[in-house]
Parts: sequence; structure tokens; C-alpha cells
Amino acid sequence: MTGEHTAYQISRLTEEHRQAFETLDQIVWADEPTAPDWPLSGGIETARAFVASPDGQPPFAGIYAHYDARVTVPGPLGSLAQVPMPGLTWVGVHPDHTRRGVLSTMLRHHLADLHEQGIALSGLHASEAGIYGRFGYAIASLDVTVSVGGSLEAPGVDAGDVVTTFHRVHGAEPTVERIAACYHRLAPSTLGAVDLPDVQVQRSLHDHPMSLRGSEPYHVLFASRGGQDVGFAVLRRSPSWDKGLPEGKLACTWLEAADPPALLALARRLAGFDLMASVEAPVAGPDSPLVWWLGGPRAARLATKDALWVRLVDVDAALAQRGYAAPASLVLDVADRDAPWNARRWRLDVSDAGLAQCVPTDDAPDLWCEVTALGSAHLGLRRFAEMAAQGLVSELRPGALAEADRAWATAMLPAGSVSF
Ligand SMILES: CC(C)(COP(=O)(O)OP(=O)(O)OC[C@H]1O[C@@H](n2cnc3c(N)ncnc32)[C@H](O)[C@@H]1OP(=O)(O)O)[C@@H](O)C(=O)NCCC(=O)NCCS
Repeated sequence: MTGEHTAYQISRLTEEHRQAFETLDQIVWADEPTAPDWPLSGGIETARAFVASPDGQPPFAGIYAHYDARVTVPGPLGSLAQVPMPGLTWVGVHPDHTRRGVLSTMLRHHLADLHEQGIALSGLHASEAGIYGRFGYAIASLDVTVSVGGSLEAPGVDAGDVVTTFHRVHGAEPTVERIAACYHRLAPSTLGAVDLPDVQVQRSLHDHPMSLRGSEPYHVLFASRGGQDVGFAVLRRSPSWDKGLPEGKLACTWLEAADPPALLALARRLAGFDLMASVEAPVAGPDSPLVWWLGGPRAARLATKDALWVRLVDVDAALAQRGYAAPASLVLDVADRDAPWNARRWRLDVSDAGLAQCVPTDDAPDLWCEVTALGSAHLGLRRFAEMAAQGLVSELRPGALAEADRAWATAMLPAGSVSF
């Protein structure tokens, strides 16, 4: 065990230490020994992977990495835009070193590193909800799951031209590539979607021995129209029987659909599997039409939790990259403990075309906010007025909250992104 006051240094992972990186990851996640074909850190580029230790040598105290990802943010006047957002992942600290500031050191390093590179955002999925808020990350989209069943009445939506087919993911045909291609095509038109490199898509579709226990390998339903894929549902079924009656469970782990007819066609197929007593599926958000086709939140047994956490690394660049729904002229006084370059006043001017400029200023502020408030508003999940009621934002000029909410407004809630 390391002493209380150990100083940790962060260095880039080298190929020679990849094994030590993977070993620490397995300890941190209490993973069972994996099959030789499990793609451990293969998808992690050493240029994006870091280790923490007292002397730069293994065994490491902590690790982290990030994927080269992009997130779909609001564009000007109701459009959408994809911007770079490294996906923070593989964060772990050895049990001998926890609660000694290793994560804090790694995250401050991550923010300074992205700031130096001029990257405006960082995103992650949190293992526990209490960890990342203190570092300026904020919940920016929700994971929503529903129980799919019943007749799925959807007046006005015609799924008649959508063809659905069922395949094993790691079967004879190359379905992993097909899933990835469809996902990359749909992500730019899905607010909140995180477009990840293919290596991570492959990783998320791998049949890990732990998840195979009692379940079939991954299967996928494709929805296509005119020969083009317009959606997919990745799923596993776990068969079981009670007094001779089928009690199987179907877990859909990834559902993407280009439009309501594609979603309806996939949902009807999910609901229609024989021998399944329960069918759970993720939907894009609480405002997904599937929730309402199922009869509303109670009938859909809607369950929700945080999905993507977003951190504005550079407030000015992040606010200027995003588009807006209405003109605004606001001075924001931003509080930010871990990225001190953000902690100042910023003037945001949004034109009638929904395009923004953001520059430092000493003018009197219209709104005071924690940097986390900007993260929660970034994809359109939360409104400033609501965050003011919570105490994350203060209105210093009457009307400024409403002006900000009109500018940041989005037509739909952001979709919960696939985990990474
Ligand atoms: C979560 C984890 C990375 C924290 O690392 P750590 O080095 O112990 O964190 P630090 O010592 O830098 O703690 C920083 C602060 O976060 C708090 N914190 C750490 N882990 C926390 C948790 N799981 N829940 C709530 N708060 C937590 C600490 O109490 C500390 O608070 P303080 O600033 O008020 O003193 C580590 O416990 C771990 O590896 N857990 C298992 C894997 C995991 O969950 N990884 C995260 C992947 S998303």
C-alpha cells in the first residue's frame, strides 16, 4: 500500500506496458479472466491512453483513455452539427490507491491536455452518478428503457415499406460492419448521438463469456427500406420456463431508427418473439414515440437514468461550435474549479441565423452559472430557468434566463448515447 501523501505522475501508455494497463482494468472492474479473443485494450490507441503511478512505471495506480468520438449537437435554427468530443473511458484506480487523489490528478491532466489541443468538449458514461459532477461534468442526456409489448397502435405511422430481418451478429454474414455503417449514417441526424470509432462498436458487440451465461449470443434485427438500412435492434434472449410455461427475457441493448416507421417496425418485431415473457428496449428519450405507442410512461414501464455526461473544456469554443434557435446577447459569469481558464465572464452574441461568437469580457454579467449548467444545457436536456431554481444558475439581469432558454431550445430531447 502506498503512503498517504504519494504524488502521482501521469504519463502516456507505451506498447510495452499495455499488459499492465489491461491487468489494472481487470482488477478495477472485478472482471473474470476473459477468453483469449476478448478485445481488451486493442481498440485503445496509446496516444490516447494514460497511466498514473508514483514513478511512471508499472504496476500502475490508475489508468484512463479516450476514444476519438464526435457528438451531435444543436446546429443553427433547428439544424444539427457533429463536433469532436473525446469519449473518456477505461477510468480506473487500483484498490490500494483509491481516495488519494489519483482520479483527480488524471482528470485535471485530461482537461489540460484537451485544452492544449483546442478540443472544446469531453464526454463520458459514469459507472456511478456521484463521481464526475465535482470535475465539471454534467448529465447531458438520459438513458430510457421501456417494456415492449401489446399491439403497438400507431395511428398515422405506416411501417409498410420497412423490411425487417433477423441475424446472428457473429454469424456467417458480416453484421458488425453493417451495424457500424448504419450507426455512422444515423448519428449525424440524431441529437445527442456519440459517433464512436469502429473498434468500440466491435467491442460493444463482443460476446463476453460473462454476458453469455444463460443467454444466447448477440443477434440483430435490421430494418431496411428500398435496400438501405434505416435502423437496427441488437438483442439477446435468455430462455427460461416455469411449470412448463415460457418465461423468457429479451434484452435489446441497442436500438437505432432513422424515423418513426423504422422504429415501429423494429418494436413490433421485438414484441412479437415467441417464448418471451418480457422484452426490454432502450428508446432515444422520454419523448420517443414508442413510449406513447405503448400507452405512455406507466404502460411502457419507463425507467430512466443518466446517459452521456458532458464537460465544456473550453467554454468559448464549445458555445461558438453549437448553433442556437434564437438570437441572444448575454454575458455569462462562469464558475469552474478544475478548468480555471473558463472561470471568468464571457460575452455570447447569437445572430438571427443562430450562429454564435463567444469572447472574454469585463462587462456586467447577465447570468452567473456553474460550468455544469452549461454541460446540462449543451444538447438541450435542461433549461436555464429550471437550473436557476436548483441554484446552479443566477439571473442577474431580468429576462436573461428566458433569453438563454429561447436560444438554447431544441425541438427534441437528446438521445441517450450508446455506452462506451
Ligand atoms: C471511481 C474511482 C475512479 C475514483 O478514484 P479515486 O482515485 O479514488 O478518486 P479521488 O481520490 O481522486 O477522489 C476525488 C473525489 O471523488 C470522490 N469519489 C471518488 N470515488 C467516488 C465514488 N465512487 N462515488 C462518489 N464519490 C467518489 C472522493 O471522495 C473525492 O472527493 P473529495 O474531492 O470531496 O475529497 C475509483 O474508485 C475506481 O476505480 N472505481 C472503480 C471503477 C470506476 O468506477 N471507474 C469509473 C469509470 S466511469
